[in-house]
Amino acid sequence: MSDLKRRLTGVVSAAFATCGLPPELGRVTVSDRPDLADFQCNGALAAAKAARANPRALAEQVVAQLVDDPHFSRVEIAGPGFINLTLNLDVLTERARQLAQDERCGAEVLAQPRRVVVDYGGPNVAKPMHVGHLRASIIGESIKRLFRFRGDQVWGDAHFGDWGFQMGLLILAVGDEQPQSPFMQDTDGPFPDESPVSLADLERLYPMAASRAKTDPDYRDRARRATAELQNGRKGYRALWKHFVDVSRMALEREFNALDIRFDLWNGESDADPLIPEMVSELDARGLLVADQGARIIRVARDGDKRELPPLLVVSSEGSAMYGTTDLATILDRRRKIDPDLVLYVVDQRQADHFEQVFRAAVMAEYAPQGSLEHIGFGTMNGADGKPFKTREGGVLKLHDLIEMARDKARARLHEAGLGAELSPAEFEETAHRVAVAALKFADLGNFRGTSYVFDLDRFMSFEGKTGPYLLYQSVRIKSLLRKGAEQGVTAAEITVAEPAERELALALDAFETALAEAYAKRAPNIIAEHAYRLAQTFSKFYAACPILVAEPVSLRPSRLAFATATLAQMETTLRLLGIETPDRM
Ligand code: ARG
Repeated sequence: MSDLKRRLTGVVSAAFATCGLPPELGRVTVSDRPDLADFQCNGALAAAKAARANPRALAEQVVAQLVDDPHFSRVEIAGPGFINLTLNLDVLTERARQLAQDERCGAEVLAQPRRVVVDYGGPNVAKPMHVGHLRASIIGESIKRLFRFRGDQVWGDAHFGDWGFQMGLLILAVGDEQPQSPFMQDTDGPFPDESPVSLADLERLYPMAASRAKTDPDYRDRARRATAELQNGRKGYRALWKHFVDVSRMALEREFNALDIRFDLWNGESDADPLIPEMVSELDARGLLVADQGARIIRVARDGDKRELPPLLVVSSEGSAMYGTTDLATILDRRRKIDPDLVLYVVDQRQADHFEQVFRAAVMAEYAPQGSLEHIGFGTMNGADGKPFKTREGGVLKLHDLIEMARDKARARLHEAGLGAELSPAEFEETAHRVAVAALKFADLGNFRGTSYVFDLDRFMSFEGKTGPYLLYQSVRIKSLLRKGAEQGVTAAEITVAEPAERELALALDAFETALAEAYAKRAPNIIAEHAYRLAQTFSKFYAACPILVAEPVSLRPSRLAFATATLAQMETTLRLLGIETPDRM
């Protein structure tokens, strides 16, 4: 089942071919002027340029082939040689019926699915997640869902930050506080099954140790040594580290669950560690490793680089694995365990150099083919001052607190809307939660990921405009309409497109596949968000112009109800691709 754009491209391309013009110029797009036509083809201009001919004359030849085609009620030339195409109502009716029947709401399935890893979220042990992780999680989750929906086989991996210098810092901090702890003794164990630290301890100790390491070189050296000892397998440190990981992961998973973010894999940086010795000797054997002031690096800069790209640090002078080392070893690990065709790293744009270093090294080492590793960067969420968002106290906003803030605001909005009395307390809470999540996610995904945006909870939470709550509200309106329809015994039947607003709605539903294909190609969920918003607005217009349950004659009602059902199904599918669930009532 193909969308109209693709089908019409076939028709117009054939007309181009008949006229002796390159068929690929017959590409059809949605009209820039929906008041004049449904679709358009600009190919006559390109054809004329290539042939040094008059574009209108070429367009006339093509139009002559198309005027009698049963797809069109009108084919016209506009301006310098655009071909404007207006569809026959029968064609739209047939397509709308197809869409209403289709459980994929008109979305196609890839002919050649791939194996794709989405590396996203990237939370760290002991460090609370902040809004940067929020963006990574929201965007990554949406990309994962989109790729999976298109038909790829997808693994979402949290790539848990559990192995670097911050682990040494924590061990040191615990050791300074609990010097007698069995974990601090350099023995073979056994070590206690009970964690000597709680999440609160970790959240207190980590920032303390991190800031001390910044000013105290001696402390920093001790932390580096602890890191190296951990990585070299000191038993007590390993056992303690395992507790850090478990305690953190439990807390993190709670937060991710609240946001409907589910990873398939929780592999950590540490999971790639066993591969490092072998990797290092292999890199060495390939002549890629260079000794540099006691450390070992890979030079990745190339002639013609606009800026000098620093080398990738593989082994530090203390003998530790670095951030880039675990990333490189993870590429090798994934190659062996998953053998992906594509790995997407959904990480803050500010890590662009890091990924460029790692990817170049991976290609040089033949761990990954050129082009199979992609950094999907994103901008920051800023405060009103245009700088990355901070709390009023100047600290980094914790994800947990952000979700709480959003929930509070959602509760207030729902009370204003008078829902406090209508819903049961449990339903009210559930709805408030969904509204909060929709607001945060849509505010993020509504912009192209590369763009930074300003955190403005009042705006995100508005029931009007381009917001998550607006889209939920529109979906809930349709749900309640369908409930009413069922009570009144109106049942949906085959769609017939007649009114202009119905025509527009049929076209909006048909545009789903195009939006998905584009979002997929650009790894850009904002295109899905845009589609959701357009669909909601088009439905609103339709509903204003075409009454459903009170339509006269009565015979119009089943078709209009079918329109509403199809819109809701596609809206919920679209929102789900953004990671947003709709409540039943609000
Ligand atoms: N844990 C890292 C951070 O908080 C992000 C990890 C991103 N993924 C990766 N493969 N490096 O910055």
